[in-house]
Amino acid sequence: MNSLATSSTSPVILTGDRPTGPLHLGHFVGSLRNRVAYQSTYQQFIMLADAQALTDNMDDTGKVHRNVVEVALDYLAVGIDPLQSTIFIQSQIPELAELTFYYLNLVTVARLERNPTVKEEIRLRGFERDIPAGFLTYPASQAADITAFKAILVPVGEDQIPMIEQTNEIVRRFNRVAGREILIEAKALVPEIGRLPGIDGKAKMSKSLGNTINLGASADEIRAAVKKVYTDPLHLRIEDPGHLEGNVAFLYLDAFDPDQAGLATLKEHYVRGGLADSIVKVRLEACLQELLAPIRLRRQQLESDRGYILQLLKQGTEKARAVAAQTTAEVKSALGLNYF
Ligand code: TRP
Repeated sequence: MNSLATSSTSPVILTGDRPTGPLHLGHFVGSLRNRVAYQSTYQQFIMLADAQALTDNMDDTGKVHRNVVEVALDYLAVGIDPLQSTIFIQSQIPELAELTFYYLNLVTVARLERNPTVKEEIRLRGFERDIPAGFLTYPASQAADITAFKAILVPVGEDQIPMIEQTNEIVRRFNRVAGREILIEAKALVPEIGRLPGIDGKAKMSKSLGNTINLGASADEIRAAVKKVYTDPLHLRIEDPGHLEGNVAFLYLDAFDPDQAGLATLKEHYVRGGLADSIVKVRLEACLQELLAPIRLRRQQLESDRGYILQLLKQGTEKARAVAAQTTAEVKSALGLNYF
């Protein structure tokens, strides 16, 4: 199946998501669009990070299990082509855990505690001091994911940039220990709009904040969500001048409207006054319905054949494991962990 994938000499992309719920428009803008665009020129590995998801979901392992297939369906629905990209399951590659074990010696607890992404996630989850050790150290496991494939590019949302920086620190330390360039540094591939706000106006669209529009949303759900989209609280009468800053309806149009010239004219009118929020929302709803209808349809077509999805994941995981095993052998050998 994956034999048709882009030649194995193409530069590698490694990326992935924690399967804890359905993917939403935030994922679409932050990384999925790039993954679809880049899959034909790079050798792309997309990882379902189920092991990483467990670092804060040990109380609900069933959720993670169920969402592996759900997220894989989302990938295929948005246009990830299994002939071009290799989708695999993190927990089924023990070499990733093995690499993590070594990398943990190349990073300090203080550095992990300073990682802005980890810090913010600890705050959001209200862990205070009761942080699962696996959660605090997941940047080391993410470094294992990226380096195992010798990826040079990682298409992710803005929030993941500190993860790539920390990965590269581990790479440099490891190569110094090894005395040669065994591991490769990677770059984050972050789109211009790297973060989509939630429909409620909060800085980030996120399942835990309940402010998402999911990729599989029905037409009714899209309509209802657009009605709730935060606009300009000062825009009380139509004739009042409207404000664009923090106005989610316009931020979404920036991200999804194919007619950006028409959008510029609409913005001018809004700022001048005399344009109702409802008109802006009609345009936004049309954009989102058009974007999501084919994705929803494709998802529905695939949903009925879970056997096919599992088969795809099994093959992808086998292919990915062979690559990770090769790098792990090089890493162990560089550390002197080769005896027989
Ligand atoms: N941390 C990512 C997320 O929360 C998932 C992830 C795990 C990942 N390993 C990765 C992303 C390696 C890019 C590269 O969604």
